[in-house]
Amino acid sequence: MTHSEHEPPGAGLADRHGRVATDLRVSLTDRCNLRCTYCMPAEGLDWLPNPALLTDAEIVRLIDVAVHRLGVTDVRFTGGEPLLRRGLTEIVRAVAALPGRPRMMLTTNGIGLSRLAAPLADAGLDRVNVSLDTTDPARFKTITRRDRHADVVEGLAAAAAAGLLPVKMNAVLLHGVNDDEAAELLRFALDRGYELRFIEQMPLDAGHTWRREEMVTAAEILARLRAEFTLLPDPAVRGGAPAETWVVEGRTDIGGAPARVGVIASVSSPFCGACDRTRLTADGAVRSCLFSQEETDLRSALRGGATDEELADLWRKAMWAKPAGHGINDPRFLQPARPMSAIGG
Ligand code: 5AD
Ligand code: SF4
Repeated sequence: MTHSEHEPPGAGLADRHGRVATDLRVSLTDRCNLRCTYCMPAEGLDWLPNPALLTDAEIVRLIDVAVHRLGVTDVRFTGGEPLLRRGLTEIVRAVAALPGRPRMMLTTNGIGLSRLAAPLADAGLDRVNVSLDTTDPARFKTITRRDRHADVVEGLAAAAAAGLLPVKMNAVLLHGVNDDEAAELLRFALDRGYELRFIEQMPLDAGHTWRREEMVTAAEILARLRAEFTLLPDPAVRGGAPAETWVVEGRTDIGGAPARVGVIASVSSPFCGACDRTRLTADGAVRSCLFSQEETDLRSALRGGATDEELADLWRKAMWAKPAGHGINDPRFLQPARPMSAIGG
C-alpha cells in the first residue's frame, strides 16, 4: 500500500524519514532538588502549576495507549527529578501490570534513591541511569549548587543492591570544572561495577548560555580516557543506542563480562538518523524530538474525553512530523523554548 506524505502509515509511531519510535521518555515533573549550573539558574525556574501536570492515572493511561496502540516497548521516566514525583512507585507498579508490559527505566540524579531503589525494583522498575559528574564532593557542590554528593553515591549503591542492573552512570564534562576527571570517573564506575556514559553538553540550558567552543567533545573525552585506559572496539551491535561504546581492556563488570564505557556525541556526531524516541512532557505534550520547536497537546484531548484511538491518532500525527535531525550544527539552529528539565532527558 502506498501512503500520502501527509499521513502516518500503519499503527506505530513512524515519521516521514523512515524511523519508528518505540522508546518513550516520560517527564514526571519539571522540578529538581539540584541546580546544575549547565541546566538551571540558582533560583530554579517557574515550575509548572499543579493542575497543569498530568495526574498519575493520566500518565498510566497515556503509557497504556503508547504500548497497546503505538508499539512502544521501552518507557523511561525522567524529570526534572522523577524521584520527586510522589506517585512514582505506584505509577511503576501500574505500568508493570499492563499486559505487554514495557521495559521500564528511570533517569535520576540519585538523591532519594537510597530509600527508593528497593521499592521501585519491587514495583517492577528494571534499571536506572544515575547522573554524577564528579567523584569530588566539593566539585559536586560547585556543579549542582547543593552539598549532596554522598546521597548520590549511596543512591548508586542502593540501586545495585536492589538489582537494578546494570547500574548506569551519566556524566557531563565542563571545561575548567571537571574536564580533568574523565579517567577518575571511569575508575570510580569500574571499581563499583557501574557502566559509565559521558554525554556531550547540548544547548538545552534554561539560560541559553551554551557555546560550542566551551563544550568538551567526545574526541577530547576519549583522548583523556586513553591516557589511562586501553579502549577496544565494542563487538556489540549499537542499534538505535545513542552511546558509542568501548570495551575497557582488563576490566570486567559485576557479571564477569568485559566492562564497557560509552560516549554520547550528541553534538559532534549526531545519531538522529537512528533515533527511536518519542517524548511526553509532565504537562501532557508529545515532543517528537528534544529540540522540536513544536509540540502536540494530549492533555486537552485526554481531559476532553478522547478515546484511546483518538489519543493514539494525535500521537501518530505528532511523530509523523518529527524533524530529520536536531540541527545544532546548522547556523540557523534555534534552541527550544523549554529547557531540558521541562522536556526530560
Ligand atoms: N547537555 C547534555 N546533558 C545534559 N543533562 C542535563 N542537561 C544537559 C545538557 N545541556 C544530563 C544530566 C543527566 C541527564 C538527564 O541529562 O546531567 O545526566
Ligand atoms: Fe536537576 Fe538534572 Fe537539571 Fe541537574 S541536570 S538541575 S539534576 S534536572
